[in-house]
Amino acid sequence: MKKLVIMLTPAAMLVLAASFAIAQESQTPAPVAVDTAKALSEWDKVYAVFSHPRCADCHVADERPRWSGAHYGGTRVHAFNVQRGRSSAT
Ligand code: HEC
Repeated sequence: MKKLVIMLTPAAMLVLAASFAIAQESQTPAPVAVDTAKALSEWDKVYAVFSHPRCADCHVADERPRWSGAHYGGTRVHAFNVQRGRSSAT
């Protein structure tokens, strides 16, 4: 009896896996209609955040973050020798 159970277990797993795979296939999402005009106007909102000086002052192309705004008299390099360092991830 024990041998029979051992032999049938892989077959039962295979049947279960196959039915799961079939169920997954039938759950393919319907294609989504893309409204390009709406997407572009939403992108403008995202872009307004990413390009705002609040973010752009730190996310600079070089190694020196900036200070910007009327109270700084324009845009200038951050004081106190603030510089991008080596990433701890590398
Ligand atoms: C005071 C400086 C500073 C400001 C201001 C700042 N960031 Fe960052 N940002 C960082 C640093 C530092 C990291 C981490 C970079 C890294 O891990 O290499 C980071 C990471 C990120 C990341 C993840 C990037 C990645 O590759 O994983 C995003 C997205 C991001 N910032 C967006 C923004 C946005 C949007 C704003 C404005 C609302 C903003 N940041 C303002 C310093 C700043």
